Parts: sequence; structure tokens; C-alpha cells
Amino acid sequence: MCGIVGYLGPRSAQSVVIEGLRRLEYRGYDSAGIAVLSDGELATRKKAGKIANLDAELLSNPIPEAGIGIGHTRWATHGGPTDQNAHPHVSADGRVALVHNGIIENFAQLRQKLEARGMEFTSETDSEVAAQLLGVELAKGVGLVEGMHTVANTLNGAFTLVAVDRDDPDRVVAARRNSPLVVGVGEGENFLASDVAAFIEFTREAIELGQDQIVEITRDAVVVTTFDGAEAEVRPYHVDWDLAAAEKGGYDWFMRKEIYEQPQAIADTLLGRIAPDGSLQLDEIHITDNELRRVTKIVIVACGTAFYAGMVAKYAIEHWTRIACEVEIASEFRYRDPIIDPNTLVVTISQSGETADTLMAVRHAREQHAKVIAICNTNGATIPRESDAVIYTHAGPEIGVASTKGFLTQVVACYLLGLYLAQVRGTKFGEEIREVMHELQTMPEKVQRVLDDIQPMLDLAQEFSERPSVLFIGRHVGFPVALEGALKLKEISYLHAEGFPAGELKHGAIALVEPGLPIFVVVPPKGRDQLHDKVISNIQEVRARGAYTIVLAEDDDLEVEPYSDVVFRLPKVPTLLQPLVATVPLQMFACELATQKGYDVDQPRNLAKSVTVE
Ligand code: AGP
Repeated sequence: MCGIVGYLGPRSAQSVVIEGLRRLEYRGYDSAGIAVLSDGELATRKKAGKIANLDAELLSNPIPEAGIGIGHTRWATHGGPTDQNAHPHVSADGRVALVHNGIIENFAQLRQKLEARGMEFTSETDSEVAAQLLGVELAKGVGLVEGMHTVANTLNGAFTLVAVDRDDPDRVVAARRNSPLVVGVGEGENFLASDVAAFIEFTREAIELGQDQIVEITRDAVVVTTFDGAEAEVRPYHVDWDLAAAEKGGYDWFMRKEIYEQPQAIADTLLGRIAPDGSLQLDEIHITDNELRRVTKIVIVACGTAFYAGMVAKYAIEHWTRIACEVEIASEFRYRDPIIDPNTLVVTISQSGETADTLMAVRHAREQHAKVIAICNTNGATIPRESDAVIYTHAGPEIGVASTKGFLTQVVACYLLGLYLAQVRGTKFGEEIREVMHELQTMPEKVQRVLDDIQPMLDLAQEFSERPSVLFIGRHVGFPVALEGALKLKEISYLHAEGFPAGELKHGAIALVEPGLPIFVVVPPKGRDQLHDKVISNIQEVRARGAYTIVLAEDDDLEVEPYSDVVFRLPKVPTLLQPLVATVPLQMFACELATQKGYDVDQPRNLAKSVTVE
């Protein structure tokens, strides 16, 4: 997820673009850059780090005043957060500047073709491929709009591209597929941005670009066409939000916005990881297949929500690979003198990539000569830098302290790792892997359905806002989901909440159950094993003691009805993938209950987004 701004009009392009980027910095802050056109010159400045670094660069190395410009604040996906990888990217002939938000799936093949023709690249990014391709098109004598049409029809994946042509200072052109772009319509000026926060101080008249559309803005016109050149239908609207709401996309909290971003975050995390033949390609895994074949044990190490993602991963990885898999709390790991050796694969999970407990575990594992793979959401963070390999989740920046899209994309990345290991070690046949990958690719729409039907959870949160305690129970992968649901509630509503394995209640915790006690139950899909029936028994146990049961169960699971005070319906998915749909109602329940209690959902008391101390 990155922030993009484009401008054309009588104001200072530098001022409009830089201030617009500052309003979009929550979308990414690994690097920032700007390009302007002035008197036939294309001037570009870009720096790693926050926009403040770009400000300093512009002070020491000014760009000319201009009325046309584009800018970008980056959340790195391909290529670390460096000056060279920062956007805008410029074509080899110096004529085109381009910024990009998204993931170009076929960039490697396109880059190889251009390099074979002698093209030299200056960055490691997928985005530079689009800039070079556009430069090649314009060199053939076509205009910026036609060139953008050709490039947009060449790329696969998710992309919003915004570009300017040094030889045509009267237009900014953009293409949109899967990543957001809105037009700000002014008087004698027009704006482009990833979201309206960038331009609502100048205009509140906006046009949301649709899928596979190209937009050309001049000072006095906005022309939208489809990728195949036909005139496109546009939907103008008036922006009512204030600036604070605009930065949250109109939501009340970043957390709620990030819960709703989960379908896209899952889709982005899957993008580019399935080869055309349906096999898995994890190009960041710099551990050889032979080394992976020698692995005799896997140890997953993480903290908090990331640890619960690791617990889900254990079930999937052991099932698919038949390798013993342990899951360890990072702060305990190195103090218990763990048994690890060169044939142990240590997998660390960390959204921030800076958690001290997890980082210390990485260092300990490497001292013991184990191979370390990091699952991380922050490109270039310390933990992936100190690991042998990394699988990046592409959730975009997660601002809310309570992790939501971070968790779901960690679980997806763990599934990808498990399937990749199974593919390399031959414990899963290609057809089986393709089947699971197909199921995974349906998950964004299934998570979206849960969100579309979320209202019962919001109603429940209002009803429960004064309860002193809430329990969560589940079996198999439903157990870590119960733990995560409890953690979400604890950390933002300050209520006592606890997650248990459903089968464990009778060994003590059931003494807590009293009339009216809310208990969430994650019910597994009905399947070959007795898992489902055992959970039904557990619901009966607590219901018999007066618990108020909120049951999360599949659409057609009627067996739960007699024992449930509330049934929240989940889409049918394979058991191992159920955390992706079952966690979402629990996230939203916690977010709504904390909102009802009037607490700061994004920055709860006593907590920090990244715990960089042991
Ligand atoms: C999650 O809601 C919490 N904020 C916390 O448990 C978090 O998951 C944990 O601190 C690990 O952070 P990391 O993923 O950045 O390493």
C-alpha cells in the first residue's frame, strides 16, 4: 500500500504534492519522492525514509517551480526502502516519470525481456518495469494516454500507475487496477490521489476510478476510458469527510478500516506467488530446496497475535509436510536452552519486524546454526534483515495497535510456507497444492461476506459493553482463534477475556461459568472426524451452567441451533483455513465494544504498536 498524488493547475505542484503525500504517509513511509515538469525539464527528487527526509533534500537541492507534478510515499514490497527503490521511477531516456501502488505479478518476465534488449535498470522494484515500458512506448511516437493503455494491458497484478511526460506538460495520466485512485476535480486544476485526504483542502468534488480504467487530467478536463479504449462511465461524488476521517477512509478508527482492508490484504499477499503452472513460487526464500529437504524440525517463534498465527500454522504445516512443528513464545524461547541444530528451520512471525523478543530469538537461532525464515509485513525491518529468508505479507501499513490484517496475512503467509515445503519435499502432490491454493484464492471474497454480514456482532457488542468477563473456546485451529479473540478484547476494551481449548474447560476453567457469562464458541466445519461433535458437547456443558453462548458456525450447521443464544454464520471453508473467516467477527466485536465504552481503539492504554524492548 503506498500513497500517490498527482497535480495539474496554477498552484505550486511541489507544495500540493508534498502536503498531499504528508496526508497519505499512513499508507507507507519507507521512502518518498516527487517529479515536476518545468520549461521542458523533468526534475525528480526522492529519498529513503519519511517525507521529512525528502523535505531536507528539496531544501538542499531545490526543484524548479512548476504547475504539474506527481509524488509517492512508499510501503516497500519488492526491493528494500532505499533511495534507488524510491518512486518516482524515470525511463531510461529521461522522458517519463512514473509512480506505482500495488504489485506487478509479471514484472520479472517483463524486466528480463527489456534487459535482453540492453535496458539497464536502476532499482530492484517491480514499479520501474512500468516506467521503462512506458518510456519505450512514447519513444515510438505515441502520446502518454495511448502509451499508458498499452502498458496497462501488458501488466498483471494490482497496480495504480500515475505518469507524466517531459515533452507534454499539459496532462497527467493514470491507470487503475485493484489499487485505489480518486480524481479531485477543481476549477482550472485537477488532482489525482490514493485517497481524498490528499486534496480535500482544495476541492471536495471527486471521481472514484473504477477497475481497469485510465484517466487523463488536464487543467480543464478529466477524461476516463477503459483499458480497451472505450469511454468509461464515471461516478462523481461530493466528499463530506473532514481531514481526520479522510485519513481513515471515512472509518472511525484505523483498526476498523484495517479490518475492512483484510480481503484486499489477503489477495495482495497471495499475488505473484502462484506460478502460471499453479505451483508455488516464493522468490524471497533464499534457502535451497536441498536445505529445506534436510529440515527435521520446525520451530515457530513470535509474540502476541503473531504467536497465535504461529499456532494456526502448526496445524497446517504438520498436516501438509509431516515435519514436527513447535510454536514458542519468543520471550521464553532462548531462555529454555531450546534443542535446535542446522536441520532445524526457525520461522519468526512479526508484523513490525522490530519486536525485541522475537529479534533476540532470531539471533539465538542463528548462533545455533539453524536456518531462519521471517514472516514480516515491514520490508527491510531488522528481523527480516537478520534472517536467512523472508516471506513478506502485503497488508500495507497497520496503524491500529491491535493487529488485524497483520494477523490474517501472517496466517496466509504461514499457509504458503507450509505448501511450499510440501511442494519441495514432495509430501503433497501438485494437484493437492493447487486445490488448497484455489481455496485460498477464494478467501478474500469469503472474508468480504463475513464483513457484509457483520451487523449481529455490532449489536452484540452494544449489549455486552458492561459485562465483566468474556470467554472464548475452540478446538484445533479454533483454539488459537479463541486466544486471538480474547486478546483483541483485552487489549482495546480492557475487559477480562480468556481463550481456552474447548476440551480443556472440564479440567478446571468450567468453574468460571455462571449464568449469563458470555462465551464465544468457534465451531469447526462438520467433517470426517469427531471434532465438530466434541465442540457441540462443549457448548452443551457451558449452556447447562447458564452461559450465554455466541456460536460461530458454518452456514448450514443446524446442529448448533438448540444450544446457541446467538449463531453467527461463517462461509463454508476447509477446517485448516477457517481462522481466516472465524477471526473477523471477533475482531469487529472487540472494536465495537471498545468504541461503545468510549476508549481510544487505535492507541489503547499501556500498549505500543511495536515492542522494541525485551
Ligand atoms: C496484537 O494485537 C498486539 N498488538 C501484539 O500482541 C503484537 O501482535 C505483538 O506485540 C507482536 O508484534 P509484531 O507482530 O510486530 O512482532
